[in-house]
Amino acid sequence: MDNAKNNQIVQLRNVVKRFDSVVAVEKMDLDIEEGSLVTLLGPSGCGKTTILRMIAGLEDCTEGDIYIKGKRVNDVPVHKRNLGMIFQDYALFPHKTIYDNVAFGLKYRNVSKAEIRKRVTRALETVRLPGVEHRKPAQLSGGQQQRIALARAIVIEPDVLLMDEPLSALDENLREEMRQEVDNLQSELGITTIFVTHDQREALSMSDTIIVMKDGLKQQEGGPEEVYDAPVNHFVADFLGHCNFYRCRITGREKGLTTVEVEGGQTLYSEHDEGWEVGEELELLVRAQKIVIESRTEEIPGVSLNIFPGKVKSRMYMGGEAWYFVEMEDGTVIHAINISRVAPFHEGDEVTLHIPPRHCRLIPKD
Ligand SMILES: Nc1ncnc2c1ncn2[C@@H]1O[C@H](COP(=O)(O)OP(=O)(O)OP(=O)(O)O)[C@@H](O)[C@H]1O
Ligand SMILES: [Mg+2]
Repeated sequence: MDNAKNNQIVQLRNVVKRFDSVVAVEKMDLDIEEGSLVTLLGPSGCGKTTILRMIAGLEDCTEGDIYIKGKRVNDVPVHKRNLGMIFQDYALFPHKTIYDNVAFGLKYRNVSKAEIRKRVTRALETVRLPGVEHRKPAQLSGGQQQRIALARAIVIEPDVLLMDEPLSALDENLREEMRQEVDNLQSELGITTIFVTHDQREALSMSDTIIVMKDGLKQQEGGPEEVYDAPVNHFVADFLGHCNFYRCRITGREKGLTTVEVEGGQTLYSEHDEGWEVGEELELLVRAQKIVIESRTEEIPGVSLNIFPGKVKSRMYMGGEAWYFVEMEDGTVIHAINISRVAPFHEGDEVTLHIPPRHCRLIPKD
């Protein structure tokens, strides 16, 4: 394709998918860089699986083009696309041995028996499960079965690995472990991977690039820090973690910062400046983890802006962190998450909140 950059291994151009009247994917453009781990992140029904299935060739595009290694593949059947696939219900063949499960994709590829044996052994070593060739899937744990699914996908040496919520059937501890394994394996083998999830922690911890989706549309694309710290709209901010949102109006610029007046009449300073006009109505967002909460008497060293008195309305102890809901003098309630010192404050405590100007992001009004 004419505008293909040579390090883009998968590209979607204006891809649309309609199922009768349902628009599952709307005008999607994607550029997946070779060797990267890209996550499609979004709520249920936003079109993640549909995109993966179109890339795999399991579903036709209603409109648009898909390119793999610069070649248009719209009419190329699944088995000729050289992709590895892992889906949520890892679906190993229950009656086949692990060996046959892993070897499955090679049998149709004109690979010699000796070569199959070599590759299966290597794939099992890669997923750290050597020696289980003769077992049946039921004789392995859920996490081990998922690793076998991974071995089966990589044994064919695919150009791209497609993973659709592959960890969602596992319990939380195992998921975390598997996340790290997938991440390590991916960087070790350098296989381009497109990973689907609706779990923001999973996406943030593993990805080179995150594509946040809603209703079949890409909302934002960027590295984990970028989408987390600089979300482009309310949806992205909200989907990636705990946020406080306030309607606000630009009132000017002072000390190199943007000043805004929030709903209750308070003025806040923000480091975010995109040249807004005075009077413009926007939304201010502050992540709950970025708010500093101190006891009322304490001074906050080196800080003079965005300091507000408040009173703890409620507190939730969450183990590694504490959540506070603090009522400000104008009645606004702020959600603050404190990680450094767990739960020193209680309901009714008078506190001081500091909202650092660099964590005050301004986004379009929702
Ligand atoms: N075969 C189909 N026939 C009709 N509608 C479909 C079909 N497959 C998907 N859809 C619809 O397309 C939209 C996108 O579905 P998709 O499965 O891609 O979402 P998803 O983001 O993967 O969601 P989840 O997180 O729940 O897996 C949904 O509204 C869904 O109901
Ligand atoms: Mg899905």
